[in-house]
Amino acid sequence: MARLFFALWPDDIVRARLTSVMDQLPERLGRRVPLRNIHITLVFLGEVTEDVAQGLLGDASKVCAEPFSLVLDHSGWWRGPRVVWLGAEAVPEPLAHLVEQISAVARSHGLQLEERPFRAHLTIARKVARHPRPIRFAPIHWQINEFCLMESTQQENGSVYDVRGRWPLTRG
Ligand code: 2AM
Repeated sequence: MARLFFALWPDDIVRARLTSVMDQLPERLGRRVPLRNIHITLVFLGEVTEDVAQGLLGDASKVCAEPFSLVLDHSGWWRGPRVVWLGAEAVPEPLAHLVEQISAVARSHGLQLEERPFRAHLTIARKVARHPRPIRFAPIHWQINEFCLMESTQQENGSVYDVRGRWPLTRG
């Protein structure tokens, strides 16, 4: 079995910008997500068999969505999962379309997905018990040209994410 999710992975330019935003997090605020782990989950799949993983790898290559730009422009906090995140006010149409298609692929392999509507966010800190002050930062423009299937493994010092597959976004 493998614990899988589809994700958008920041490139080095975006990662450098994220570093400067994360430097503004108060020292004692929860547990920072290591920079190498920061991403946007598109669809969380949970534990799947190797057969299903292979099926997903095959079918993800048929997903057809255009490249798009995402503007990360605000921070937020969710009480339930106790996470601080960066988000985008506007969800570009190609992003919604991408999530729909990936969800359809996952369902076609018998996976049950969460009913909650998709909310594009990058979790930057966990175990944050109280609403922190919003972080002020210049909007980060992220050009997204590919999506990935990631595998998550729990190790002693936290989650490790490995790329199982990556696919380019292409214009019609
Ligand atoms: P999060 O960053 O908001 O916690 C790997 O666990 C990724 O999948 C994380 O980005 C996590 O989102 C996301 N995810 C979505 N639903 C999840 C779930 N039910 N359990 C664990 N992770 C989930």
